[in-house]
Amino acid sequence: MKKHFPTIAKTALVLVYLVIVAGALVRMTGSGMGCPDWPKCFGYYIPPTDLKELTWEPNRTFEKGQVIIKEETLLVAKDNFTTQSTFDASHWEKYTKHDYAIFNPLHTWIEYLNRLVGALAGLGCFVMAIASFKFWKENKKITLLSWLVVFMMGFQGWLGAKVVYSVLNPIKITIHMVMALVIVAVILYIIQLARPKLAVVTYNATFKKLLLFSLLLTLIQVAIGTQVRQAVDEQVKNGVTASILWLQNPSVSFYIHRSFSILVLLVNVYLFNKNRKFNLGFSKINWVMGIIGIEIISGIAMAYFDFPFGSQAIHLVLASILFGIQFYMILESKKPSPANS
Ligand code: HEM
Repeated sequence: MKKHFPTIAKTALVLVYLVIVAGALVRMTGSGMGCPDWPKCFGYYIPPTDLKELTWEPNRTFEKGQVIIKEETLLVAKDNFTTQSTFDASHWEKYTKHDYAIFNPLHTWIEYLNRLVGALAGLGCFVMAIASFKFWKENKKITLLSWLVVFMMGFQGWLGAKVVYSVLNPIKITIHMVMALVIVAVILYIIQLARPKLAVVTYNATFKKLLLFSLLLTLIQVAIGTQVRQAVDEQVKNGVTASILWLQNPSVSFYIHRSFSILVLLVNVYLFNKNRKFNLGFSKINWVMGIIGIEIISGIAMAYFDFPFGSQAIHLVLASILFGIQFYMILESKKPSPANS
């Protein structure tokens, strides 16, 4: 089990990233309210595919908790019963968590997929935590951090429910995103602890400080990016559906976000050159450069070319991968202990 632990932890990491991808897909397609309830979807474990399934009809058996849409209102079955020839309101109660009562099968299934991937990632983290007991004697940190990840995944699930019940409150969505990055960071740390490889990189104090600085810049850029997203969401909420109008009069956060990417780029170009010049061996900096390039291109595409299909999802997912790689490079850049030097 101990031998396989790094593979198990890496699988958990990939699954967490898949949740981020699924979340981006939800955002891109506007499917966040595809399931009005949580954890079930319209009261079903496998959600409906047709509006007919959410419509009252005579001689149909309903189970407690199942939902119908009647006169643009969500109604929940109070008990298990079979309908008669006329609608009997005493079997139904109004859904009170919110009043969003639209059924769009595509949105429902995308949101459902998001939840399935979330559950799978939760399971992956749980398996990692069980496997981590093998390290209890040798390195308690690995076990404790693995269980912390399980706890944080549970918190993410709970927060996911809060996001739905608040009808996609932007602050809650942002916390959801930050928490996902924290989970990524902790799993990367666990992987590093469980597989202490001989250093493949040359330690350089200035380089490490700059790496930390560039990670901080990325985090600030992500935080500003979520502000831009909130401003865009606000437009959509106000009924501006044409994406060409979303950034017509952009908020200040957009200009800061756009200009800040120049600083992000410059610091990383400096790191890239330093790594090459001194042959430090940080090969992942090439990935960082490539991702920043695509971030800037997808950002420009959204802002000036009318949010092309997929650009929002690419922008969001790559920002989280950028964070992961930069964090891993910091973990790699460890000061050699006197025994190894
Ligand atoms: C290092 C470079 C960049 C990083 C790491 C970054 C990161 C992010 C992040 C994390 C978000 C929030 C996404 C979400 O919560 O759904 C965001 C949103 C956004 N960013 Fe960037 N960004 C970068 C560069 C740029 C550039 C250069 C532009 C434009 C010229 C840009 C335009 C936007 C826009 C328009 C949004 C709102 C997207 C939406 O509504 O889905 N970004 N960015």
